[in-house]
Amino acid sequence: MSEPLTLGIAGLGTVGGGLVDLIHQNGKHISSILGREIRIAGVSAKAKSEAQREGLANAVFFSDAVALAKDPSIAIFVELIGGEGGIAKASVEAALNAKKHVVTANKALLATHGVELAQLAEKNGVALYFEAAVAGAIPVIKTLREALSANKIKRVYGILNGTCNFILTQMQNEKRPFADVLKEAQALGYAEADPTFDIGGFDTAHKLAILTSLAFGTKVALDQIHIEGIQSITQADIEATDSLGYRIKLLGVARETESGIEARVSPALVYKDSAIAEVSGVTNAVAIDADFAGNILLVGAGAGAKPTASAVASDIIDIGFGFIMPPFVTPSANLKAHKRAKLDEHYGSYYVRLTLHDKPGAMASIAKAMGDREISLESIVQHRHVTPPAPGAAAHPAQHSPATVIIITHETTEESMRKALETIEKDGKVTERPQMIRIEEL
Ligand code: HSE
Repeated sequence: MSEPLTLGIAGLGTVGGGLVDLIHQNGKHISSILGREIRIAGVSAKAKSEAQREGLANAVFFSDAVALAKDPSIAIFVELIGGEGGIAKASVEAALNAKKHVVTANKALLATHGVELAQLAEKNGVALYFEAAVAGAIPVIKTLREALSANKIKRVYGILNGTCNFILTQMQNEKRPFADVLKEAQALGYAEADPTFDIGGFDTAHKLAILTSLAFGTKVALDQIHIEGIQSITQADIEATDSLGYRIKLLGVARETESGIEARVSPALVYKDSAIAEVSGVTNAVAIDADFAGNILLVGAGAGAKPTASAVASDIIDIGFGFIMPPFVTPSANLKAHKRAKLDEHYGSYYVRLTLHDKPGAMASIAKAMGDREISLESIVQHRHVTPPAPGAAAHPAQHSPATVIIITHETTEESMRKALETIEKDGKVTERPQMIRIEEL
């Protein structure tokens, strides 16, 4: 056997711990694949006590991740610290400058500094691999970088955040309110430390920024992604869309249009019988529409110690075989600028929920606002809210309580929808902001 393949692992949290366990458990299997021993030569963590675990008996502890990154004893630096800057960025840069290969699970770092880090890796002739940064165990980076590299990608989309999918699934199955299910997701450890990151769509946007670059050969451009979270989704939306044959999913979608790349994160309606509607709980799914390969759907665990460690280890094995590609397939010098498509030009159907003052003419003014913008309605349903009279009180007429109106439109432009809803709000016929959700044709 030749020289061992030596690793320096920075960060021993959920993913770092999972990787140590994987190498402890499957190290012999990996060594037999590589034809040489795989060895954790050094680790770094916030506290030395974190390194007191099985599998690390022979690993040297470094209190400074940058020192570990540069240490001559390691061939691959594995960054599992997280965060878009700080020590994570400094240690990755140090490793690349020291001509060490880097494997990372850090979506925020790549979404923010991906291009400059790719340039650094290419300049130093080393790998910068990140299978674990998007959708955990799902091999979507390798699918785009390797298996589909000869294809022109038309669209990439998916459920990229387990926390949001868990919340929407529980709201659907258990008829519980958003805030209640969010608390459960936090208690189960699915949500990021700051759950806004998940429910506000930012975690999905980081992952989509990386996928967009790989799919379309463009520079990573987090700031060009339109981001909406799931905070505005109510039980009323879940129930109304269910009765119309849809499920609500937080989707990241990137597609090439005539005016540029439309990249957006937002709740979307998908048909109940579509494959993606079936993806429930914390499971992730990524779909790719490719010109020669056709449509591909990958489904699996998007987070957690074991699935994420599996993805990290697969990158380590690639490097162990000497398989080095530019991080974003296209050499960074050839990555195109990301030209953002105008979302106003998005053409599709929409779901709208309005809460109307139940007064004569209210519905007519809604229909007029839509008609004036050439928006054709596919269906319109009004639910009357009947508040039961207080015990002992006389029954009151229900026509003055607000009514919920659910509209499904035919295909139209986002600009028309936005302007029609602005008019409806200005007309003062609604008691709260209209809810508008795109219907995604899959
Ligand atoms: N908080 C993330 C999720 C973890 O819920 O999917 C993986 O990025």
